[in-house]
Amino acid sequence: MSPVETANAALAHPQRFRVSGGARLVGEVRVTGAKNSVLKLMAAALLAPGTTSIGEVPEILDVAIMSELLRRLGCDVERDAAASTVTINVPEQLHHRADYDLVRRMRASIAVLGPLLARTGEADVALPGGDAIGSRPLDFHVAGLLKLGATVENEHGFIVAKAKQLTGATIWLDFPSVGATENLLMASVLADGRTEIDNAAREPEIVDLCTMLTLMGAEIEGAGSSTLVVHGVDRLQPVNHVTVSDRIVAGTWAMAATMTQGDVTVHNANAGHLEIALDKLVTAGATVDRTADGFRVIMDRRPTAVDAVTLPFPGFPTDLLPMALALNAVASGTAMVTENVYESRFSFVNELSRLGADIRTDGHHAIVRGRPQLSSAPVTTPDIRAGAGLVIAGLVADGETVVTKIHHIDRGYPAFDEQLRTLGADIVREDDDQPQFD
Ligand code: EPZ
Repeated sequence: MSPVETANAALAHPQRFRVSGGARLVGEVRVTGAKNSVLKLMAAALLAPGTTSIGEVPEILDVAIMSELLRRLGCDVERDAAASTVTINVPEQLHHRADYDLVRRMRASIAVLGPLLARTGEADVALPGGDAIGSRPLDFHVAGLLKLGATVENEHGFIVAKAKQLTGATIWLDFPSVGATENLLMASVLADGRTEIDNAAREPEIVDLCTMLTLMGAEIEGAGSSTLVVHGVDRLQPVNHVTVSDRIVAGTWAMAATMTQGDVTVHNANAGHLEIALDKLVTAGATVDRTADGFRVIMDRRPTAVDAVTLPFPGFPTDLLPMALALNAVASGTAMVTENVYESRFSFVNELSRLGADIRTDGHHAIVRGRPQLSSAPVTTPDIRAGAGLVIAGLVADGETVVTKIHHIDRGYPAFDEQLRTLGADIVREDDDQPQFD
């Protein structure tokens, strides 16, 4: 079944989680590669004809959609689920159009814009539009490509970028956008001359992309800093690369352990990518031990309320905001949680309030007054991270919480319910016989 058919099936036969509250999460889980890196690594493979192999590929819907996108551009893509690898055979000649039916399902499709333009001199990528967490424009991507000498038009719902040869330039990003940094990085590695990206994103996923591009033969300085310097080269080579582990999934387990007063060891995680988030859990009363391949979170009492302010890396990750709200919803005391990356990331607060959370929002701030326990209710998932936050909130609610539209969660959390069950959670995945369509 093609990924689009899989996606349609997920929508045509929606599923839901039935979560019974009360269990402490205890045990060990292993995190795979980061969704927010692997999708860009797969796009970066387009930069070099030949066979690139990527390891630690998570079993999520988005990987299937990116695979389909690459196939439509002319690549052969083999997924070995057992080995968690994707092998991409990139031809000399590539198509340069990324269709709407794939892009609308996964915004990360925009990551083919830079590599396609660099390789073929043209890229037609459907505009993804906004989603539940914000309008998410692409103006930084476009402004940067114009600086590199491309022409960029908006035609019939597509970004159409053209350039016979891109030329290095100095680009200043108004905000350290992850997506814009990645696209401009991948556009400039084959450009003529030197490119400097200032106020670049510093996320571990950016460093992972720089590592793979450098292995391919690119010349990049400053990975992980806010100034990236790229010296264009004529040609890149296909490589084998292993995806960095998913810090957002690892952070979700850490939050869940704290909320359920549990004891969870997370393997194949990098605590250094979660400094602020883990530090917040210590402030909330948890013990966090770093281990050889990750960390262990132990909580033996009700959490204490802890403020959080989301910022680009190394700040508190915006993708853990739903978990920070859910944690404070059952903590003792009152916390202020501030969102600085997206304009409507609080849109799911109504769903948390249905579970009895006491949250007042005002613009970018949310005041959360902790309650001893939440009360179960049917809730619906607006996006990947909010969905995970609602499931975890259901774990600390009395009674059964039904979480619908879980296809969102499956896009970012491999085998979420199975892993929760191994930690002792009472959660069931079932067909949703009263579906609410998107
Ligand atoms: C990536 O999105 C992640 N997605 C997001 O994770 C994550 O929340 C985000 O980075 C920030 O960490 C993927 O990697 C696939 P941005 P991206 O460009 O690249 C504004 C998840 O749940 N902006 O850093 O789209 C934008 O609207 C997802 O896994 C412009 O205004 O994020 C946003 O407010 C959700 N113009 C802010 O910048 C632009 O041209 C950050 O966006 C680009 C961005």
